[in-house]
Amino acid sequence: LIKQIKGREILDSRGNPTIEVDVITIEGVLGRAAVPSGASTGENEALELRDKEPKRYLGKGVTKAIQNAEGEILTQLQGLSVFNQKQIDHSMISLDGTENKSRLGANAMLGVSLACSRAAAATLNIPLYQYLGGIQGSRSLPTPLFNIINGGAHADSGIDIQEFMIVPHGAHSFREAVRFGAEVYYQLKGLLAEKDFVTAVGDEGGFAPRLDTSEEAIQFIIQAIEAAGHRPGIDISIALDPAASEFFDGGYYHFEGKKLQSKEMVEYYKNLASIYPIVSIEDGLDEQDWDGWSLLTQQLGEQLQLVGDDIFVTNSRFLKKGIQEHVANAILIKPNQIGTLTETLDTIQEAQKAGYGIVMSHRSADTEDSFISDLAVATNSGQIKAGSVARSERLSKYNQLIRIEEQLS
Ligand code: PGA
Ligand code: ZN
Repeated sequence: LIKQIKGREILDSRGNPTIEVDVITIEGVLGRAAVPSGASTGENEALELRDKEPKRYLGKGVTKAIQNAEGEILTQLQGLSVFNQKQIDHSMISLDGTENKSRLGANAMLGVSLACSRAAAATLNIPLYQYLGGIQGSRSLPTPLFNIINGGAHADSGIDIQEFMIVPHGAHSFREAVRFGAEVYYQLKGLLAEKDFVTAVGDEGGFAPRLDTSEEAIQFIIQAIEAAGHRPGIDISIALDPAASEFFDGGYYHFEGKKLQSKEMVEYYKNLASIYPIVSIEDGLDEQDWDGWSLLTQQLGEQLQLVGDDIFVTNSRFLKKGIQEHVANAILIKPNQIGTLTETLDTIQEAQKAGYGIVMSHRSADTEDSFISDLAVATNSGQIKAGSVARSERLSKYNQLIRIEEQLS
């Protein structure tokens, strides 16, 4: 039974404050969770409550969110069983009373929500993935999508596409997938250095070279895959997250010096996918461009995974619209876009029922918390993206999956 909630301001991987929550039960069990934060956030995401006190952390403090967790939320939840996740989450939702969790803050609510489930798993003395997925049921490790070149809002590389990921689908285990990823990463570093590009990394641990075009980035990656002794398209393929909402303005896509319409962007992707071994494109178009998304899905949906991130924001309401209108064929899952574990699980279930693919996801500013790794295994999400194979806030996710794989075998 929930006895105490303690929040604290910790730092995320961009050096900004974020909330970590401890839930303590009457039995003395602790559940702890930290909340990540995005840069290319979707307009319809649940609200991340910040203090807006300019003199403290440039206004990014989260002391109000902490007060809400320790005050109103605790009062509401005190005495509830940590096993009653749905009741916990629904009572926070009604206490908040807003559409986008703007009163209490989705960061406060998610911290509490996740910490409760950790306390529940700890009470039973079982791993989190097992608790979240039920004692029985099959478990599969997700295929990782390693983001090895960073652009867009995540680096000052000047590349318009935000994420260039490699997908080691030819690996026979998660451990092997990590090895494939690291091997390609070293080779890429060498190839970039050879051509005098900087090899400093962006927010998600991928390189951020100043390249002129996205195609150049893809060519470097293909070369790196080959140099590492793997076969592009067979062992390792490519996934992109253009995060197109970031370069959509005034009805046009401002892409690589050109002003393009939706159908021209679709043509661009179609051409790219015909030349290179691309298997997945996330947020190829703007979050409001539903007509463009329909066209994109018509044209490329048979051939490619088309992942909705900003357009769905892990919200079953937008996902349902997508399913109805044949928009996308997969969804990105970021628990902090929606703000509770229960709603996250509902959205995953809705997607799986409709045959949509699932990509479990970190945020560009993340912490050492590896909740999403357990969640990916528990829900059989099939895929996870948690950045590159460098920077410990990324590796905390992948390393946790290595441990889970070991436990399951
Ligand atoms: P974000 O980026 O966390 O900055 O929103 C991740 C993504 O767009 O998938
Ligand atoms: Zn995205």
